[in-house]
Amino acid sequence: MQIVTELATLSAIVQGWQRDGEDVALVPTMGALHRGHLTLVAEAKHRARRVVVSIFVNPTQFGPNEDLAAYPRQEEEDAAKLRAAGVDLLWLPKVETMYPAGFATSISVSGVTADFCGAARPGHFDGVATVVAKLFNQVRPDRALFGEKDYQQLAVIRRMATDLNLPVEVIGVPTVREADGLALSSRNAYLAADERANAVALSRSLQTAKAAIEAGEPVTDVLARAISGLVQSGFASVDYFALADAVSLERLDRLDRPGRLLAAARIGRARLIDNIAVDPKA
Ligand code: PAF
Repeated sequence: MQIVTELATLSAIVQGWQRDGEDVALVPTMGALHRGHLTLVAEAKHRARRVVVSIFVNPTQFGPNEDLAAYPRQEEEDAAKLRAAGVDLLWLPKVETMYPAGFATSISVSGVTADFCGAARPGHFDGVATVVAKLFNQVRPDRALFGEKDYQQLAVIRRMATDLNLPVEVIGVPTVREADGLALSSRNAYLAADERANAVALSRSLQTAKAAIEAGEPVTDVLARAISGLVQSGFASVDYFALADAVSLERLDRLDRPGRLLAAARIGRARLIDNIAVDPKA
């Protein structure tokens, strides 16, 4: 695995592959890699001859109250995992490469960012869209893979790629879960043992709500029941538990098209998010 920190080197290597007819998949990350990231890498290896992983802790997607400095950085450990996973190139851009002096451009995707985590974290998705657009332009991948766990992020990136005619196929990869159903997340590390045991209620409540909505129960009743059930199961509060259009993320009170149940709830020090597809034809 080549570890590259200079843009000119990255371009020369990727262009060389592409000249030889080898297609390229990119997995953008902020490091602190876990099994979920390695699943994206494994899927990328199925989808393209060459796999590039980027690690960049992107300052512009952190809000003023979110601790950028405390974000875990473990480059050597991450590089070892990626080498073992058969990654071809690790792109480690410097902050000055991503945001040189005078940098003044931001990509803002409206609509899909208006609600849910976009409403709770103003500016967050502008930071994500801007850095992902830069990574696409730097690496020029044929494909890029993102986890469905961050479903709103995936919707933002799909919208941006379509709107800006970016020549990259955006692929969503299903969420990786613990044996009991809890979605894998670096935030699970914040959970005490009793909180961890209760946290499974989030994925279970999504499954129960999906089954009830697909069976034709009124959406508002199902959502209200899910929210009170989460609080009874030990969650301190529920930021949102909603049914949305699977593409636009507009809230739905009837399942008349492909939907997505999206949830964010707080337990102990952690704010957990999860989501599940809801099929109108089920
Ligand atoms: O999901 C992440 O790790 C980040 O938001 C991403 C897509 C790498 C952009 O910084």
